[in-house]
Amino acid sequence: MKVLVVGGWGQLGSDLAAVAGSAHEVVRPRHGELDVVDGAATQSLIGGARPDAVINAAAFHKVELCEEEPRRAFEVNTLGALNVARAARSAGAQCVFVSTDYVFAGDRPDGCAEDDEVRPLNVYGVSKAAGEAAVREAAPDSLIVRGSGLFGHAGSAGKGGNFVDNMIARAKTGQPLSIVDDQIFSPTSTHDMAERILLLLERRVPPGTYHVANGGSCSWYLLARTALHMAGVQADVSPRATGEGVVRRPRWSTLLDTKTARLGLPASRSWEDALQWYLASRPEPAQVKTA
Ligand SMILES: NC(=O)c1ccc[n+]([C@@H]2O[C@H](COP(=O)([O-])OP(=O)(O)OC[C@H]3O[C@@H](n4cnc5c(N)ncnc54)[C@H](OP(=O)(O)O)[C@@H]3O)[C@@H](O)[C@H]2O)c1
Repeated sequence: MKVLVVGGWGQLGSDLAAVAGSAHEVVRPRHGELDVVDGAATQSLIGGARPDAVINAAAFHKVELCEEEPRRAFEVNTLGALNVARAARSAGAQCVFVSTDYVFAGDRPDGCAEDDEVRPLNVYGVSKAAGEAAVREAAPDSLIVRGSGLFGHAGSAGKGGNFVDNMIARAKTGQPLSIVDDQIFSPTSTHDMAERILLLLERRVPPGTYHVANGGSCSWYLLARTALHMAGVQADVSPRATGEGVVRRPRWSTLLDTKTARLGLPASRSWEDALQWYLASRPEPAQVKTA
């Protein structure tokens, strides 16, 4: 399969390329070569590449900045999603749009199933929910794949590194950490998410929305504490409430996978197992710099 990954040099994109290995041909235009906001350029590049599938992992996802720059959020996350879906459709390729738990309102303590109502609380979530709707309209055979709290070896380009690495780095400086304990979500290894997305494409699952997070859920506080414990890093970590911020965030956004067992696919491993693997296979910081 020839797979074109938009946003392919980011955290998830890098793992998509790594996981695809030699099984699939992967094309990864850099942001400088393809800006999804430019519809004509997107049509031209995707049409010219003749892929079998286009995975759109590009996003503007700094949640606070999205509040300040809503135009950019909607340009990249909504218009960009539409442009990629239209281009994939006219190239005869299946579109995969990567989305987020932030499309949910976070009022379901038991978690959110794939087809539950979306009711986002902030500009980022609204722009991604609108992106999902645009993709479904433009390319009805698409897959929408949602993850949350991503961690991968490439680190999130858009967020200045991922949460797990940032907590470990901060703890190593000896500073005390006070971490939000009242937002519950499903941490997602980008390695596992990449494997899952490629599996969905390989198995030609029905079009629709899929939750591709790791199993289980936790708070940011528990994620940090678990990562520090697994990494053997001593730290003064305390839980705190979200408090009154500018940006509203979902309280409970555990992503339930209610679909893939019915399709005969194995369950995703737990977030704890994925985290353990992630930390054990993490390149040394020096290697990260030169990679
Ligand atoms: N990170 C999370 O915790 C999280 C949680 C839930 C869902 N998601 C979703 O998961 C996906 C991947 O996230 P990630 O952590 O891999 O993000 P990332 O590391 O920031 O990667 C995003 C990539 O998109 C590129 N990009 C940004 N704007 C673009 C544009 N206009 N045209 C083309 N490329 C553009 C970026 O390039 P530059 O860096 O050069 O701008 C970057 O390579 C996104 O759809 C995001 O919404 C992320």
